[in-house]
Amino acid sequence: MRLRLFSRLAVMLIWLPLAGTLLRAQRLDSFPTQIPQHDAIVVGTAWYPEQWPESRWEEDLKLMEAANIKVVRIAEFAWSTMEPSEGHYEMDWLERAVAAAAKHHIMSAIGTPTAAPPAWLTQKHPEILRIEENGQRVTHGNRAHGSSTSAIYREYSRKIVEEMAKRFGRNPNVVGWQIDNEYGYALMSHDDVTRKQFQDWLQRKYMTLEALNSFWTTAYWSETYDNWSEIPIPVGGHNPGLMLEWKRFVTSVWSDYQTNQISAIRKYAEPRQFITGNFMGFFDGFDHYIMCEPLTFASWDDYVGSGHVDPDFNGLSHDLTRGFKRANFWLIETQPGAVNWASVNNYLNKGEVRAMAWQAIAHGADAVSYWQWRSALNGQEQYHGTLLGADGTPVPFYEEVRQIGQEFSKVQEALRGTTIQSEVALLYSYDSHWAIQFQKHTRRYDDIGLLKSYYRALRKLTPSVDVISASAPLGGYKLVAAPGLNVLPKDLANHLLDYVRDGGHLVLGPRSGLKDEHNELQTRRQPGHLADALGARVEQFYALEKDFPASGDWGSGQVSIWAEQLGLLNSSARTLLRYRKSNGWLDDQPAAVTSAYGKGRITYIGAILDDNLMNAAAAWMAKESGLRTPVLSIPEGVEVSMRSGTGKRVILLINFAQEAKKVELGKSMKLLLSGRQEQTVELAPYGVELLQE
Ligand code: GLA
Repeated sequence: MRLRLFSRLAVMLIWLPLAGTLLRAQRLDSFPTQIPQHDAIVVGTAWYPEQWPESRWEEDLKLMEAANIKVVRIAEFAWSTMEPSEGHYEMDWLERAVAAAAKHHIMSAIGTPTAAPPAWLTQKHPEILRIEENGQRVTHGNRAHGSSTSAIYREYSRKIVEEMAKRFGRNPNVVGWQIDNEYGYALMSHDDVTRKQFQDWLQRKYMTLEALNSFWTTAYWSETYDNWSEIPIPVGGHNPGLMLEWKRFVTSVWSDYQTNQISAIRKYAEPRQFITGNFMGFFDGFDHYIMCEPLTFASWDDYVGSGHVDPDFNGLSHDLTRGFKRANFWLIETQPGAVNWASVNNYLNKGEVRAMAWQAIAHGADAVSYWQWRSALNGQEQYHGTLLGADGTPVPFYEEVRQIGQEFSKVQEALRGTTIQSEVALLYSYDSHWAIQFQKHTRRYDDIGLLKSYYRALRKLTPSVDVISASAPLGGYKLVAAPGLNVLPKDLANHLLDYVRDGGHLVLGPRSGLKDEHNELQTRRQPGHLADALGARVEQFYALEKDFPASGDWGSGQVSIWAEQLGLLNSSARTLLRYRKSNGWLDDQPAAVTSAYGKGRITYIGAILDDNLMNAAAAWMAKESGLRTPVLSIPEGVEVSMRSGTGKRVILLINFAQEAKKVELGKSMKLLLSGRQEQTVELAPYGVELLQE
């Protein structure tokens, strides 16, 4: 009974009007992720024709077409085939492969091959091979071995990319480009060239060594620099100011690395061709907001590895990617059953991949592409999941992809021109993430885990949550939660205060506002520049070796890992939660406070809450912020999402549970997948349904 009630509540959000929905995200008339004259949502696969005799291509493409595959990702590791010797380009084969795919109604997205420079190049210029932290130069034959800072490597990269763009920039069947592959996992060459570039970059930024020495407090441990050339590349733990600047420098290197290729492509390519990059969710090698600026849209590679999909974390990762450009994205690689690199490369359950494909769409993806079609007979990834076996015929998983493709085709028109529009945003900041990672203070501190706990609790109350940069426009969000803004300089604080003054509700989590932009401790107590508005401050923080009790407006429960003792600065602040008997210092001290400020509200939660407290806190946030959606519980295991735009609204229900679930809709709706009109949806384990009024 209880479950049924929850089911009804869960879908009540369907009936809520979208009036006033905020369009601060994607413009609804611009969907570069949906290719004109093609289905709005598509299934794809990575296909490497260079690894197979041309006589085999037709059979592959026939099988792809039969599996409803509409796009191939092609050529990204084919440098040695496209330029077998220096300046000698052979791309006829690729043109034939693209044309052959098109005959089967399959578009091509071309990857630039710079993740795998050819042997003639690394032989001629061994200095382009990266030097690792331990001082060893990598050998040829793995990938990501080129140095991103090498001018020579950039030059060769530019030439091959330019040749490709000349050849394919106007090809009607090439819909877009992917830069490199996973950007060399942001690995840097620890060589003199890189060190010099880092020093020059610092000089441009700080202008004088006096400034740098002061901001980094280099008098500490005799770190004072009298010459730019003395500044090292940080290895292991180092000065926090230096370490944060190194991360920003790495971002600027990879950003320039891709600009080098983007400009080569744009010189010859028609504007209709998109340019994207394949990111990796919460991979933190560089600042993705900066990396995504010049791209048409963001893409990512979603792999589960060992075990099974965690729908909350996976949903959060999709939303993070959507937030990179605040627009729809492509899932450009995902797991066809199993991978080959995890500790246990177990297969995902039957139906699990389909649920994941729909989850991607439900969170704003417009393409889902499987890596890969068929394993190369030799090479490092022989055991990875595929759609075909080594014998060239379908493996059982092929059928699941065929079904996904068929379903995508069936409902694609309903999703054309739709995106995710949220009332709630979570703020993420690479500076803050890095600063916490450098000095976790307790090995148990997990800022992404904390983000996920906010996400999980809030996502139950609303059909979508945006995850965006802390400096993104906030106007229109009813609730903005920033669980980990450790680096909170004044301009960012002002940006947040503007939001609150205009009527928003800002919720801050532990460790907020400890640092400034140089990763220096602020000379105001946490949350630094926001303390006055909050009317409270952090008196002391404590890393916890065990859980402590807390109680207040959100009921009673436990706090773990981290606890901050808050102190009220004025009478406008109200205590929401208090620690109870714990280490003496924290006993009965405020753990969470809130204050009205301007037309809005600012709340600070100084501890990591258990699930019950977190859920109660989220329910309070939703109510206090006036979320349109009712405070509701969604049946355990079922995710409800909504895509809307251009006068359409589609509700997506995905059952990640291993048992069947029933959802009462309260009124009759069109079930797009099963093609029926019903008041009740029966979801099988891993079942999916799309609803339209
Ligand atoms: C990464 C790469 C692919 C492939 C897969 C295997 O995401 O981009 O080329 O190696 O992993 O899971």
